[in-house]
Amino acid sequence: MTDTNAQDRVVIFDTTLRDGEQSPGATMTHDEKLEIAQMLDEMGVDIIEAGFPIASEGDFEAVRDIADVTKSSVICGLARANFKDIDRCWEAVRHSERPRIHTFIGTSPLHRAIPNLTMDEMADKIHETVSHARNLCDNVQWSPMDATRTEHDYLCRTVEIAIKAGATTINIPDTVGYTAPRESADLIRMLLERVPGADEIIFATHCHNDLGMATANSLAAVEAGARQVECTINGLGERAGNTALEEIVMALKVRNDIMPYTTGIDTRKIMNISRRVADVSGFAVQFNKAIVGKNAFAHESGIHQDGMLKNPQNFEIMRPEDVGLSATNLVMGKHSGRAALRAKLHDLGYDLGDNQLKDVFVRFKALADRKKEVYDDDLIALMRDAGSEEASEHLKVKFLRVICGTQAPQSADLTMTVDGVDHMVSAMGDGPVDATFNAVKEIFPHNAQLKLYQVHAVTRGTDAQATVTVRLEEDGRIVTGQSADTDTVVASAKAYVAALNRLIVRRQKTGTDQKEIDYRDVVS
Ligand code: KIV
Ligand code: ZN
Repeated sequence: MTDTNAQDRVVIFDTTLRDGEQSPGATMTHDEKLEIAQMLDEMGVDIIEAGFPIASEGDFEAVRDIADVTKSSVICGLARANFKDIDRCWEAVRHSERPRIHTFIGTSPLHRAIPNLTMDEMADKIHETVSHARNLCDNVQWSPMDATRTEHDYLCRTVEIAIKAGATTINIPDTVGYTAPRESADLIRMLLERVPGADEIIFATHCHNDLGMATANSLAAVEAGARQVECTINGLGERAGNTALEEIVMALKVRNDIMPYTTGIDTRKIMNISRRVADVSGFAVQFNKAIVGKNAFAHESGIHQDGMLKNPQNFEIMRPEDVGLSATNLVMGKHSGRAALRAKLHDLGYDLGDNQLKDVFVRFKALADRKKEVYDDDLIALMRDAGSEEASEHLKVKFLRVICGTQAPQSADLTMTVDGVDHMVSAMGDGPVDATFNAVKEIFPHNAQLKLYQVHAVTRGTDAQATVTVRLEEDGRIVTGQSADTDTVVASAKAYVAALNRLIVRRQKTGTDQKEIDYRDVVS
């Protein structure tokens, strides 16, 4: 048994940048991935799965650069069960002081049928590929994809082969979110009991949330002996997502009385990274999401508020400070100075250089002129906007005036800059947002389909900023743009244009940065 097992220390393996980013529309830029990786490293994540190096040149570069810049975390890359994938993965992760290769193959009957391998042929492939990975790297993780729907005898056989071939971590994925807590625990227990050498390696649990049980299934696996939990910030991931890191870490902290396992995570960094992942992925956190939702610590009802004032423990099982929510929501306004803004942004996790602060201060003053009180969430929205404008500026909204009301047709006059040249149009539509989007389309014709249009009020009151999210799809590429403004139509125009800017970047990278790689294609 390893030290990790002996201490009942649970290893946190974060896959936000691999499984999370795989979520359609959640694509992050290179710099965003680096920033998130550094935040994960600083918060004490043990292993960062930084990407799938063979998937694209962009993925390769991201994994390589993350391996270069991170200080403490193990940096892991994903590879299918073939030498080409594994070699490429090693090329990227070897830049880390602590590299890991993670290779996998689908072992369930359904997944075996895809590469059309017999059980024996697949067993040989597992031996070959894990041995190859182990020849390159001391730290090798192997996953039988769709493990929870794999016959138990075959699962035990393949896990034994992988251990003998040199795997140091065996991950048991619930790829389609099918298992339930008791079954999840029984599976780990069975593997520990039946597989020779199982006590020499770490078992990991990797759950998807299709039935809303990912966290419960992961915790059940830990109680049965798994000592690595694979998870993502905000539970980001394909379909209903992956196990949420913040839920696992806080559950183990708050209920340490019944689950006596520790992690190395600095929980006070949870809120900032949650916000940042929501920003860069374009996947807003639902208001009632456990731990990081806007309402997770809000007590609206009179009875709750009264109880909270008497003793916060009446209704709170953890303190907001423990997850990095500042206890005071110090309101800023137009008289607040630069030093106060810098201090406030620092509390919210943004450390700005002088030039950046100068730019943000101008935006803050403009916002404070329109809005009497500027709350934390307003500042976060402001930072998000500043970031997305920096990302790419092929298209820019310069002027917008809409006519709306009970009398149709609604119309929009728009001036938009395309690669530095101003274009002006007037367009009509079914409502002001539709008219605005039609105007954008007239200036910048495209075939992208609108997949999502979402508006959230950042704070309360009729002067609240609106955060708008726009998701577009063109030829299988999915991009998301976000923007905030006290004017919902302006925020909509900017979010639409932010998505188009991302699409332009994706178009330029077509051929080298496509994600259409098939996970099930073993022999590529
Ligand atoms: O869900 C899954 O099976 C995966 C594997 C690639 C580990 O993400
Ligand atoms: Zn997964």
